Amino acid sequence: MTGSALIPAQAKAVIFDAYGTLFDVHSAVGRHMAQVGPDAARFSEIWRTKQLEYSWVLSLAGRYAPFWALTEQALDYAFARFPDVDRSVRPLLLEAYRTLDAYPDVRETLHALRAQGLRTGILSNGDPGMLDDAVRSAGLADALDAVLSVDAVRIFKTSPQTYDLVLQALSVHASEVVFVSSNRWDIAGASAFGFTPIWMNRLGLPDEYVELAPSAVIASLEGLI
Ligand code: LAC
Repeated sequence: MTGSALIPAQAKAVIFDAYGTLFDVHSAVGRHMAQVGPDAARFSEIWRTKQLEYSWVLSLAGRYAPFWALTEQALDYAFARFPDVDRSVRPLLLEAYRTLDAYPDVRETLHALRAQGLRTGILSNGDPGMLDDAVRSAGLADALDAVLSVDAVRIFKTSPQTYDLVLQALSVHASEVVFVSSNRWDIAGASAFGFTPIWMNRLGLPDEYVELAPSAVIASLEGLI
């Protein structure tokens, strides 16, 4: 039995997207605001947007490179777009991206879900090394039953092959998986695959992908418990 009306009675696992959902991708630039300068917010946004665009373009083209390489390439694009930003901050930003801040509601939520008998996990575009660093630095290793990387199938979300990794790893059916992401495009992929998708809309963004809707929308992870 679960404590939340949002989690169906048949659910056996709650699987989370990593970047943007558990980890604050903008905390890397946030730690070095002074060095990045007045365009810091737009710089961080372009870094993230390009990182994702590269993942989709490669996947559609039948190519693959680890997400860390895409993260570096996207950062270099952001530097090219903002030539006034001092490139000496590059290694600091990359180091910060390995150890992003977890949102404050993550730890308690994961433990509460497990206390309800649910298994918890990550399914991320991040490669295993990135995810290992992020999970360890945020102290979340003891709160997760599985940390799954799309690297195992060498294609990025929203390919069904990526969501299928959850079924293989946890021996569950899609109808037994609740998938939580702050990325609306990821919710669309999870919906198409047959998971119960819960959109964590921290920023109050407008809905999209209306044919591939979430089963619920929450504003913080505590909405799950
Ligand atoms: C993830 C990124 C794409 O898969 O948010 O963790």
